[in-house]
Amino acid sequence: MYVELNDVSKQIRRSPILSHISVGFEKGRVYGLKGKNGSGKTMLLRVIAGLILPSSGQVRIGGKILGKDMSFPESIGVLIENPSFIGGETGLSNLSILASIQGKAGKKDLEETLERVGLDPSDKRTYRKYSLGMKQRLGIAAAIMEKPDIILLDEPINALDDKGVEAVRAILAEEKARGALIIVACHDEAELRLLSDEIFYMQDGELTGHEILDKDREDEP
Ligand SMILES: Nc1ncnc2c1ncn2[C@@H]1O[C@H](COP(=O)(O)OP(=O)(O)OP(=O)(O)O)[C@@H](O)[C@H]1O
Ligand SMILES: [Mg+2]
Repeated sequence: MYVELNDVSKQIRRSPILSHISVGFEKGRVYGLKGKNGSGKTMLLRVIAGLILPSSGQVRIGGKILGKDMSFPESIGVLIENPSFIGGETGLSNLSILASIQGKAGKKDLEETLERVGLDPSDKRTYRKYSLGMKQRLGIAAAIMEKPDIILLDEPINALDDKGVEAVRAILAEEKARGALIIVACHDEAELRLLSDEIFYMQDGELTGHEILDKDREDEP
């Protein structure tokens, strides 16, 4: 398992947010997270991204303990809730600013990524003039632009039109084929089943169910 959670719990001001979560995720697979509002999906993604530390238990990524051997996963792309882009910059310029931190993606990569999410790289409109769906598309672009080992997408199809949803399906298939480990939280169960190889069900901060859909093995005897 490339990402492993070992008895991870998180309390915030004594309220249990995540409880005793032990689970493993492999590269080249798409995992879906399903659960009601407040069940802990976003918090679980935040813990895996190193954005919050567990109160107890460990998150291991490639064998290294998050928060001990490293502060953040080395190769990760994340779309969690409202990404903070700069209102006065274009989509391409926003991606360039973010990409300059790691220096992994060049201008051509960024332009290609914008095209993959259905945004025009030469669009001169600034982010503040983007529609909700365009903002969501840019958030997805930022998560995938560096071809990370791990991709975490929290409600990626929110605000997307049919073409946007199709783009997300294609992107997940491509990133999976590239070998990325992908975890997606999504309220639309039909869509989640289409996107995922396995689904984990969450309730009150606990993992309460696991279903393997395993499309890859469908044509095996
Ligand atoms: N910053 C915070 N401080 C304290 N509690 C929080 C904080 N953010 C979230 N919570 C609590 O953590 C729990 C899990 O929230 P989380 O956002 O992970 O749910 P979710 O499954 O993503 O829900 P949704 O479907 O609405 O996105 C909820 O009880 C929520 O109230
Ligand atoms: Mg959430």
